[in-house]
Amino acid sequence: MIDEGLVAPAPPAAREVHERWSRTRGSGALVVGICGGTSSGKTTFARALVERLTAMDPGIAPVLLRQDEYFQDYLHLPEDGRAAARTANRPDAIAWPSLRDALGCLRAGQAVAFPGRGTGLAQRQPEVRTIGPTPLVIVEGHVLYVDAPVQAMIDLKAFLECDVEERVVRRIRRDTTTSGRTIEQSLEWYVRDVQPNNQHYVEWQRRQADLVIPHDRPNPVATDMLADAILARLARP
Ligand SMILES: Nc1ncnc2c1ncn2[C@@H]1O[C@H](COP(=O)(O)OP(=O)(O)O)[C@@H](O)[C@H]1O
Ligand SMILES: [Mg+2]
Repeated sequence: MIDEGLVAPAPPAAREVHERWSRTRGSGALVVGICGGTSSGKTTFARALVERLTAMDPGIAPVLLRQDEYFQDYLHLPEDGRAAARTANRPDAIAWPSLRDALGCLRAGQAVAFPGRGTGLAQRQPEVRTIGPTPLVIVEGHVLYVDAPVQAMIDLKAFLECDVEERVVRRIRRDTTTSGRTIEQSLEWYVRDVQPNNQHYVEWQRRQADLVIPHDRPNPVATDMLADAILARLARP
């Protein structure tokens, strides 16, 4: 005979979490940042986190913002000067007004247009859709914490730790398999843009983080722990 009093109550329904959240945060979103060096696994980790949270409570419907979708379009430069100016690893690679606007709107409980204005993605993909409102934003990128206004809008700043040797191997492997580059192209870009910038900004950003997560190997325990912490925060009365 099971004593009813000892049975754990069912987890709150998705709607209930959303409503409780709305009451405590004025319907705005909690923003969780995932930062780290190139190929530390930010995209992989962020996707796993969204998947885990969705499995725990489908009602949360987190918005995943990827900083790589906010690279600037360089249209302010003459066409023949764009290739030389292009970077992915200095802070000026990012269309910051657009990323700040997206975070600001979602944080305030509003929807936002995607892709953002002034981004390379908007240039290539002109159909605009609306994302949000949402109770939770996961934002991932390699120079996220460099921008003070963006950093100030992130409630929980995580950093993925992985040494540079492992990251270089992962990066070359990814470039030459899924991204279709030759090893020569991969190395040329690495030496020109990644090496002189990435490590410099990465080290500084590590010190801005609230939470450092080992990610030199798959770390599903950390994904679970962070998902639990996020859910607890969302449901906090
Ligand atoms: N924890 C991990 N252990 C081993 N390989 C990983 C791990 N996380 C990611 N990878 C692999 O490393 C490569 C880069 O991962 P990705 O998530 O694209 O990195 P980032 O977004 O930080 O540049 C991918 O091929 C991915 O499968
Ligand atoms: Mg990535």
